[in-house]
Amino acid sequence: MQTHLRGRDMITTQEWTKDELDTVIDVAVDLKRRRALGEPHPLLRDKVLAMLFFFSSTRTRASFEAGMAQLGGHAMFLDSTSTQIGHGDTWREIGEILGRYDDGIAIRQVDWGIGNDYIRAVAEASRTPVLNMQCDWYHPFQALADLLTIIEHKGDPRNLTVNVSYAYAASYQKPISVAQSEILLLTRYGANVRLTRPPEFTLMPEILAQATENAKAAHGSFEVIEDFDEGMKGADVVYAKSWGSMLTTDDLDESAKISERYTDWITDERRMAMADGDAIYMHPLPADRNIEVTDEVIDGPHSRVFDQAENRLHVQKAVMALTM
Ligand code: CP
Repeated sequence: MQTHLRGRDMITTQEWTKDELDTVIDVAVDLKRRRALGEPHPLLRDKVLAMLFFFSSTRTRASFEAGMAQLGGHAMFLDSTSTQIGHGDTWREIGEILGRYDDGIAIRQVDWGIGNDYIRAVAEASRTPVLNMQCDWYHPFQALADLLTIIEHKGDPRNLTVNVSYAYAASYQKPISVAQSEILLLTRYGANVRLTRPPEFTLMPEILAQATENAKAAHGSFEVIEDFDEGMKGADVVYAKSWGSMLTTDDLDESAKISERYTDWITDERRMAMADGDAIYMHPLPADRNIEVTDEVIDGPHSRVFDQAENRLHVQKAVMALTM
């Protein structure tokens, strides 16, 4: 267990060592047990987390806010449209000023080409830890919650085949951040990770290179597959969700048109039957029901989507208690 994490930012899991990530999972399990037992755990009494959203959220906002209350502190909700950000508050004002009021700053900024740079700039200006609630490139707390969910349901990720797959969705061009964070974290834990996606839905080359290096170091594997059904075959974990073709075009309308070529990339019972018989189905939510995944799968016996959503609470509390 690592005990030196006070003051650390969580922008990507890649910047934390494996021992440090193990500590997060260990503390998350402890906090989950304490909550189940009704045991108070006010580890952040009188501390305040500023939560700044540039994009909508259900789970992230609710779980950070509930988590801070359960830790004895307070979460302050701010959004970009009702602050003075539109009138000139820069990353420097946000980092300097919120860093002086608060004990941590959590930010969701998913605009392509902006989000990660913005969060890093705020972190540079802030005297308190900055937590990435999702940017254009990474969604570290989703990946940590998913790692905990996989460990709970499937055990040690080593030797598990995890299929991180593109799926079609009609609602909007979702960020690539979940897929990138999943392949980065699960390769750290020695899983055999498949990235299954049509050619237009590639991820960032540097992330693919890091995933390859991670897999080599952890004695797992990382491969890229372009056939939806092929990716499903024998998988222990089916993690199929939509994302946009940002690496192919930065025009969202064009990206939507490209997506229309892949409307048959839907996770249904026929596809799940290609996976291992005990496979679990995962999705970070929100899902486009009966477009991205059928009701039968997302509400079916293989689905672990609510456990994933719950585990957001526990891993976030762990990181906040360790860093703030
Ligand atoms: N999975 C996730 O981040 O959900 P929200 O967008 O609702 O926060």
